[in-house]
Amino acid sequence: ALFDDAPKPLQGKRAIVTSGPTHEPIDPVRYIANRSSGRQGHAIAAALAKLGADVTLVSGPVTIADPDGVATVHVESAREMLAAVEKALPADIAVMVAAVADWRAADSAMQKMKKKPGEAPPPLLLAENPDILKSIGHHQSRPALVVGFAAETSNVEAYARDKLSRKGADLIVANDVSKAGVMGGARNAVTLVTKDGAETWPDLDKTEVAARLAAWIAGSLSGAPAA
Ligand code: CTP
Ligand code: CA
Repeated sequence: ALFDDAPKPLQGKRAIVTSGPTHEPIDPVRYIANRSSGRQGHAIAAALAKLGADVTLVSGPVTIADPDGVATVHVESAREMLAAVEKALPADIAVMVAAVADWRAADSAMQKMKKKPGEAPPPLLLAENPDILKSIGHHQSRPALVVGFAAETSNVEAYARDKLSRKGADLIVANDVSKAGVMGGARNAVTLVTKDGAETWPDLDKTEVAARLAAWIAGSLSGAPAA
């Protein structure tokens, strides 16, 4: 805004953020999806923009509004999400927050599948979706800072550390979704896992997690120690 003279440590930096679930069609009326409101990813896109970054938000289907000051691209499936992320490259920062469906229907039907009296339900054959974080983490135009999320229900830090190395990320923000109210809720308690160690933040509003993460990213790109 015109009179906003807040510091802009990410001025001139480009960021890509994914958010929300993906929907994988089974037929024209049915889909496979993960639970995700998009709240955390959208808040991170807004927080990066507030620090001056030029942000492209690639969002799966959500009911929340596009954040102000961010270029939002709407997609449905994981394959569409990957294509939109690659189209937004090159970037300095990638933050992959989307709850991407790991599998899609191997063949989605062009016509609505109908129940047939007396017949058993049809089997659902699955195919693996592309791993967007992993492909960006190993991309030839890899952003300088690649951040992933990990929603876990157990062994949170160990699984996060495994994802950090497998996916080529610099930071994994891990959260324990076995705790009531995280999925779809307003608050989040996260552990930041890097190759150097782990740091657990208190239970915070998702907008506060986003603000702190944006500041952490700005500090990391400036070479300063994380706050
Ligand atoms: N992710 C992605 N594309 C996928 C799957 C996951 O970009 N096809 C990203 C998520 O956005 C998140 C990170 O990878 O930043 C971790 O996602 P998660 O589902 O926890 O990891 P998976 O590798 O799918 O492992 P699993 O679900 O088996 O725990
Ligand atoms: Ca997964």
